[in-house]
Amino acid sequence: MNSTAIILFSRPAVQLNEGALQKSGAAVFVLLDTKLKAQVEKAPRWPLLKPPLPPERMPRHVAIIMDGNGRWATRQGFVRIRGHSAGVDSVRAATRYCGQVHVQALTLYAFSTENWKRPQTEIRFLFRLLKRYLVAERPELIANGVRLTSIGNTRALPDDVKDELHLTEQLTASNKGLNLCLALNYGAHDEILHSTQLLAARVASGKLKPDEITESVFENHLFTAGMPGLDLLIRTAGETALLTALREAQAELQEYREEDTALLRAMWAMQADHAVALRREEERGYAKGLAD
Ligand code: FPP
Repeated sequence: MNSTAIILFSRPAVQLNEGALQKSGAAVFVLLDTKLKAQVEKAPRWPLLKPPLPPERMPRHVAIIMDGNGRWATRQGFVRIRGHSAGVDSVRAATRYCGQVHVQALTLYAFSTENWKRPQTEIRFLFRLLKRYLVAERPELIANGVRLTSIGNTRALPDDVKDELHLTEQLTASNKGLNLCLALNYGAHDEILHSTQLLAARVASGKLKPDEITESVFENHLFTAGMPGLDLLIRTAGETALLTALREAQAELQEYREEDTALLRAMWAMQADHAVALRREEERGYAKGLAD
């Protein structure tokens, strides 16, 4: 490990090789530009909340499949994309709540490889929303110690979105609070392929023997390497079908029965007046509990 201090400005003029930096073990200091610094100072600090479950039952890693937006909007008589705008409010509420009760990681499945099949106008709208979200939420994420990361093939995202994403990742890289992980252009098959290619390259170079590929070695080559295993998976549409990639994870999920109701009620109570929350409560029958 060396201790070279590298200073990254929040608008780096030169792209630095992050991989090389990480390998070198160099300390990276981020200097915020004046505008961002002022925004961070003004951003709300999240008060701590009492976790809704005893520590041994608290999920360390919660994942949310952000679906049902279009159906919700259609039911309300709005255009489908209005559901996506409402979804951003839920993202903010869920992030705050997870940060406040010390969930370690929150993964949001925001854009799958399948989503490229949607109409161009919807895709453009989604990326505009994502970009706006990254810029607008950055000060609050920084102020509350959130580390933003991403999984999926982000190289295929539009350049302006990629720039804001990577900048937010760089600026929050050393934060120790909630790991907010955005799954963008994420696909189960892509993830397995990526992991397989990495492992094959290590085997080909003689660094790994085929019989040394254990479950944990495999996991360490997934996009989610280093994150705690998934404990709780929520589909905001209230459906139970899972993406292929998550079927495996489902088998591993701890069972949250009464407790998951308590956790979800607490999570959604924060935003009980919000449409996405209400939809979920209705569909899961939690509305009664919240009204009690
Ligand atoms: C699924 O709803 C939702 C999406 C494909 C996109 C979700 C992404 C955003 C709201 C962009 C912003 C992202 C972040 C992380 C801030 P759907 O259209 O499939 O609805 P349906 O299931 O009713 O068809």
